[in-house]
Amino acid sequence: MGKARLVLLGKQGAGKGTQAERLSQHYKVPHISTGDAFRAAARSGSELGAKAQAYMQAGELVPDNLVVGIVKEYLADEGGDGFVLDGFPRNVPQAEALREMLGPEGLDVVVNLDVSTEEVLHRLAGRRVCQNCGATYNIYDNPPKVPGKCDICGGVVAQRADDTEEAIRLRLEIYESATAPLVEWYAKQGLLVTIDASGSPDEVASRALAAVEAALGAPHGRPGR
Ligand code: AP5
Repeated sequence: MGKARLVLLGKQGAGKGTQAERLSQHYKVPHISTGDAFRAAARSGSELGAKAQAYMQAGELVPDNLVVGIVKEYLADEGGDGFVLDGFPRNVPQAEALREMLGPEGLDVVVNLDVSTEEVLHRLAGRRVCQNCGATYNIYDNPPKVPGKCDICGGVVAQRADDTEEAIRLRLEIYESATAPLVEWYAKQGLLVTIDASGSPDEVASRALAAVEAALGAPHGRPGR
């Protein structure tokens, strides 16, 4: 199986993390999530985590210099044979920094997960996450058997700090102003495929995989796959 260099785009709750994990397993490349990296840094009590936490809780973007630095480190350490980037880039300056980091090899494909705002509001407002193992629930569609307790490990299941109504509203506004312009930016470079991200995670995964496979086989995909 060839290695893939992928970016997932989409508004908050579109399923970037969910689909990035599946694509990363399929192509056997690391899943690099800037959101997860900052949450891990915050849990570890590092200086970076402390700096990022206030922005994240409010639903604001963490400053570009901190984000670009962390992605550079991940790509240098783990990204040599491919990667799935989830949550980065999130604005044009970050995309330009990524282009510089990757050099001539560049990206294979950018998958844009398209889903309605109504659907993402339902997913995010209902999302609850196990604080111990990271398992995700939705209190409307897929609640834990015992409220507040993880079915898998018994850990505490709680709402993400940035899944409050106010923070979700701000995150979606920031998506429209800062991140949505990347759709056209990548389309102009011939790297973008947009897929319908409604339906079950399995349905979306089939569409995402088909789109990536088609793109990898297309002329702009890297040769030798
Ligand atoms: P991050 O953790 O990346 O959060 P986000 O972009 O807001 O994305 P989400 O995790 O909410 O949504 P997702 O699209 O990944 O969907 P998911 O698969 O989780 O970033 C958090 C914060 O970190 C940012 O606000 C910012 O402060 C900072 N940050 C991160 N990167 C940054 C950057 N580059 N620059 C600056 N700051 C940065 O799914 C959502 C929910 O829906 C889950 O419960 C899931 O189970 C469910 N779900 C998924 N797919 C489906 C489906 N098909 N059907 C039903 N439910 C589904």
